[in-house]
Amino acid sequence: MERLDKFLCGAGAGTRSQVKQMLKEGRVTVNGVPEKDGGRKIDPETAVIALDGQPLGGMRRAVVMLNKPAGFVTATQDDTQPTVMDLLPPEWRHLDLKPVGRLDKDTEGLLLFTNDGDLLHRLISPRKAVQKVYYARHEGQAGPEDVEVFERGLVLGDGTQCLSALLEPLGPGESCVTVCEGKYHQVRRMLASRGMPVSYLERRQEGSLTLGDLPRGQARELTPEEIRMLEEA
Ligand code: URA
Repeated sequence: MERLDKFLCGAGAGTRSQVKQMLKEGRVTVNGVPEKDGGRKIDPETAVIALDGQPLGGMRRAVVMLNKPAGFVTATQDDTQPTVMDLLPPEWRHLDLKPVGRLDKDTEGLLLFTNDGDLLHRLISPRKAVQKVYYARHEGQAGPEDVEVFERGLVLGDGTQCLSALLEPLGPGESCVTVCEGKYHQVRRMLASRGMPVSYLERRQEGSLTLGDLPRGQARELTPEEIRMLEEA
């Protein structure tokens, strides 16, 4: 349940003072009935909130960045395990956000969400080649031969052909890997196939977006400028 005035602000109806005025003027309805009390508790999942007769909620386009901690599965719902949705503030629930691609339960770092289906498909399509940069800690040390194999397009143990990827050895047991696709456990399997099983994985960049100073476990909305950059990536 959420306060009606908070819902209206979150849905982009206006600032807090504008929303107060709208309510006072009787322009807001809840399930078709005019409502002037901004403190009224509503369930954004089920209530139909309208401003001047136009339904709100789930309408505003939103793109969100989460700094995912380990221990959360990338799914909108799971019966037994905590999901990445549990990390988003409840006031965004009505936005109907979906994760863009997936990070494994134990992978940390940058995970995007959006309610814009076109943008979601564009971002996960290997043909659009949005680059994702991962930092990995692993056994062994990556060498020039590994770099070459990644660049040529590695074939995984089960015969899966990967697109060309950039492997940058950082030192013993540490590398950066840049890929433009998102096959199941891809980076872990790529490094393991070269004898370097991964003990820690973090996504640090997607297109031109980085985590910046966003703390682990926190989420924020992207600015219009950041969304534009993503669309052009
Ligand atoms: N590759 C992986 O192996 N795991 C992830 O979570 C993301 C990319």
